[in-house]
Amino acid sequence: MPSKKTRAGAVLAALAFVLGACGSDSGGDSGDAGSDSGATETTAAAPAETTAAAASGSEAAGEVPDLSAYTIGFAQVGAESGWRTANTKSIQESAATAGADLVFTDAQGKQEAQVDSIRSFIEQGVDLIAFSPIVETGWDAVLLEAKEAGIPVILTDRAIDSEETDLYKTFLGSDFILEGEKAGEWVNQEFADADSVKVVELQGTTGSAPALDRAEGFRNVVTDPKFEIVASQTGDFTREGGKKVMEAFLQSNPEIDLVYADNDDMGLGAIEAIEAAGLTPGTDIKIVTVDAVHDGMQALADGKINFIVECSPLLGPQLMELAGAVLSGQTVPERVVTEETTFDQQQAIAALPTRQY
Ligand code: AHR
Repeated sequence: MPSKKTRAGAVLAALAFVLGACGSDSGGDSGDAGSDSGATETTAAAPAETTAAAASGSEAAGEVPDLSAYTIGFAQVGAESGWRTANTKSIQESAATAGADLVFTDAQGKQEAQVDSIRSFIEQGVDLIAFSPIVETGWDAVLLEAKEAGIPVILTDRAIDSEETDLYKTFLGSDFILEGEKAGEWVNQEFADADSVKVVELQGTTGSAPALDRAEGFRNVVTDPKFEIVASQTGDFTREGGKKVMEAFLQSNPEIDLVYADNDDMGLGAIEAIEAAGLTPGTDIKIVTVDAVHDGMQALADGKINFIVECSPLLGPQLMELAGAVLSGQTVPERVVTEETTFDQQQAIAALPTRQY
C-alpha cells in the first residue's frame, strides 16, 4: 500500500461481494456545494478505489458475512466527539450482527495506547486488526509486526502516511480533502458579495488526517485574497476544546465573520463562546462545520450553524464486509471512499426526524 498521498492505478482482481450496496436516504441535496454523491459503485471487479454509501444516517445494507469463526481487534481513537460515539456503536453492533468476537480498545486520544493495543492484539493472535489511526505518522513499526505475524490490517476512518507498502489491506473512510473543499465552496457562495472576510479555524487533533486534509481542502477552494484566516488552532475535536479556543479567538480578534470548524462538536463549543460574548452565532458570526451528527444538525436547524458537510461514522457494516472478504482470501479495493452529502438549514430540518446519529 503506497503512501495515502499516492493513488494506485492498477485494477485489482475480482471481488465476489458487493461493497456497501445500499441506497442513501440523504436529507441533503447532493448537488450543492460541490457534493459528488453519485450512485454507489457496485462492480464485479475490484477497482483500486471505490465509493460506497454508508452515509446520511442509514447503515449500509450490504450482505452481512458470517464472522463467527473469527476474532477481530479494533483499536478506537477515543470518545472525543458525537461522531466517535456513533462510530463505536456502528462497529460494535455490526461485529455482533456478523457474530465476530470483537476485542475493542479505546486509546483515549493517545497514539502510544493505540500502538499498545495493536501489539496486544498481535500477542493474542487475533485474526484481523482494524483501527482508526489517531495521527497519520508513526505506524510503520507496529504494522510491520502485524504483517510479520500474518495478521491482516484494515484502516477505518483515518489514513496513515507511510512510505512502506503493504502495511494494510484497505482503507475505508471519507475523503477529508473533499469535505474541506465542500465547506470552502459554501463559504465562497455565502460571502460572494463581501469585500473582506475574517475567518477563524478550529482544527481537529494536530497531525490527524481529518485536520490536515480538511485544512488543505478548504484552502484549495477559498483562494480569493478577500478571505483572511486570522487565527487557526486545534480544539482537538472536542466541544470543550472548541469553546476554549473560540473564547481566545474572540478576545484577540474583534471582527470575526466566519468560523470554520473541523467538526460539529468544536462548532457547538464555539457557539457557547460566541453567545457568552453577547453575539448571535449564525448571524453575527457564520459557522460551517463537518460531521452532521444530531446535535450539530439541531444547531443548524436552529440557525446557529449555517452549513454542515457530512462525514459518516456508520462504517461498521462495510468494515465487516471487508473483513469477511479479507479473511476469506478475496482481493479488496485499496481504498473505499464513503459517499457523503451536505446540509443547509432546510435540509437539516427535513433530515432530523430520521437521523440515526
Ligand atoms: O476522523 C473523523 C473525525 O474524528 C470526525 O470528524 C470527528 O468528529 C472525530 O473526532
